[in-house]
Amino acid sequence: MCNYPSVESSDNMYFLGFCKKFKRFRLFEPFVGVLGLTICVIFCFFFLDYKSVAKGLLFPSQNERFLWMRNVGESRKKIDFLSEFNGGCDLFDGDWVWDESYPLYQSQDCRFLDEGFRCSENGRPDYFYTKWRWQPKNCNLPRFDAKIMLEKLRNKRVVFVGDSIGRNQWESLLCMLSSAILDKNSIYEVNGNPITKHKGFLVFKFIPYNCTVEYYRAPFLVLQSRPPANVSSKIKTTLKLDQMDWTSYKWRDADVLIFNTGHWWNHEKTIRGGCYFQEGSELKMDMRVDNAYKRSLETVVEWIHREVNPNKTQVLFRTYAPVHFRGGDWRSGGTCHLETLPELGSSLVPSHLWTKYNILAQVISSHSNVSYSRALDVLNITHMTSRRKDGHSSLYYLGPKGRAPIHRQDCSHWCLPGVPDTWNELLYAIFLKRELNRTLNISNFHSQV
Ligand SMILES: *[C@@H]1O[C@H](CO)[C@@H](O)[C@H](O)[C@H]1NC(C)=O
Ligand SMILES: *[C@@H]1O[C@H](CO)[C@@H](O)[C@H](O)[C@H]1NC(C)=O
Ligand SMILES: *[C@@H]1O[C@H](CO)[C@@H](O)[C@H](O)[C@H]1NC(C)=O
Ligand SMILES: *[C@@H]1O[C@H](CO)[C@@H](O)[C@H](O)[C@H]1NC(C)=O
Ligand SMILES: *[C@@H]1O[C@H](CO)[C@@H](O)[C@H](O)[C@H]1NC(C)=O
Ligand SMILES: *[C@@H]1O[C@H](CO)[C@@H](O)[C@H](O)[C@H]1NC(C)=O
Ligand SMILES: *[C@@H]1O[C@H](CO)[C@@H](O)[C@H](O)[C@H]1NC(C)=O
Repeated sequence: MCNYPSVESSDNMYFLGFCKKFKRFRLFEPFVGVLGLTICVIFCFFFLDYKSVAKGLLFPSQNERFLWMRNVGESRKKIDFLSEFNGGCDLFDGDWVWDESYPLYQSQDCRFLDEGFRCSENGRPDYFYTKWRWQPKNCNLPRFDAKIMLEKLRNKRVVFVGDSIGRNQWESLLCMLSSAILDKNSIYEVNGNPITKHKGFLVFKFIPYNCTVEYYRAPFLVLQSRPPANVSSKIKTTLKLDQMDWTSYKWRDADVLIFNTGHWWNHEKTIRGGCYFQEGSELKMDMRVDNAYKRSLETVVEWIHREVNPNKTQVLFRTYAPVHFRGGDWRSGGTCHLETLPELGSSLVPSHLWTKYNILAQVISSHSNVSYSRALDVLNITHMTSRRKDGHSSLYYLGPKGRAPIHRQDCSHWCLPGVPDTWNELLYAIFLKRELNRTLNISNFHSQV
């Protein structure tokens, strides 16, 4: 009964053994007390029920086990995040829960996706990774509604700035929003460019709403350019840690501005390629990458404070999205293709990869006085995302050409639909909350007049 077809790892075999036993003994056997069983119970249901769906059985109305689960869910009524009385609910503290109503769109219906993110179309056999919804502990997220978001974005610009994980999230938002638009030809890239990895920027316009959803590739956020004259020939470029990327004038006036960075701040993508650090006219030959990263974040936060009008622009900084290479990294054959379930306990991510998150948290908290924090929301997705080792493109990023070689896996980008959709649901919640605040303020104003 429990033989989900694509299971390959020994972990999962062990787990499915448990499922079989559990199915035989039901709830009343003595091993109910075994540590972690509750989790297994829930997952047995997912496995068994997923299978019965696959067989075309009606579900969940005929299924007692799921009714029981639904009752558990309903007995924990939570306040809506958008309610005025949400008690300052922390959206980022919560759990991944199975939800049959997900995903929010199908990749076949979205022409804005890189082939590298179309995992199922590229042959990924399991669909579980598309079925998880984020449930904050102390409140409920609003259900994503593309029409509402587009209506609120009328005449506005949403801009993502960062590395390719930012592009991953941007493409996710394009798919989520375009799902509400019947005439797909009414959405187009303003310069006629196709979506590719290498473009400096891409601007998609949604004609019916006169809004744009834009992506600027700036993996370091600060300026990378020619070194000063007369330096050693091993220095090919420098990162000006005290200057923003040259495209910054294009995004300064956006209505919603979402930053991310981190994945390029390592030795391989900087010093090894002849890219050194510079402040003012001074080369910093001995500066460590993490210090340069910290310095660059200070530049970004100070730039936001100085250049961005908080009355117009809502700025979000998305924190580092963890990678999940196991048994190596992206150069040395690390893998993640056997992962089909999220991590339910603590995260498997090695702690040294959290430096990127920790440094950002430090910089933000040292700039957390009123005038700074008003301008900036943190899209604090590192912890929640670290549990989603099942969400990466792994072997399925090459397109219909077939699987990638086993030692050339992508355990840093994400399948779509998938994890970045959740980041955008959180973005949606925070965006609506702010819009609601604005409306409330306007109505307060009118009632005072
Ligand atoms: C991010 O969320 C985690 C989990 O809820 C929390 O422990 C951490 O303090 C948060 N960090 C920031 C900068 O808000
Ligand atoms: C479309 O939106 C832009 C801002 O992104 C605005 O400047 C322009 O006036 C809008 N056009 C119309 C026809 O409303
Ligand atoms: C570069 O160095 C050489 C010799 O050290 C010197 O003659 C030249 O003026 C320098 N040029 C610049 C632009 O500093
Ligand atoms: C933002 O709005 C507040 C209140 O209306 C105003 O006092 C402030 O000067 C505005 N700031 C900018 C940068 O326009
Ligand atoms: C806020 O913090 C920044 C950086 O630490 C500092 O320069 C600024 O003076 C502070 N502003 C206020 C109002 O305390
Ligand atoms: C909404 O307004 C309340 C009170 O004015 C404030 O505490 C809260 O941070 C605001 N939320 C957002 C998302 O702007
Ligand atoms: C709404 O008004 C309150 C005070 O009246 C202010 O603190 C808050 O920042 C305003 N929110 C927005 C989004 O303008």
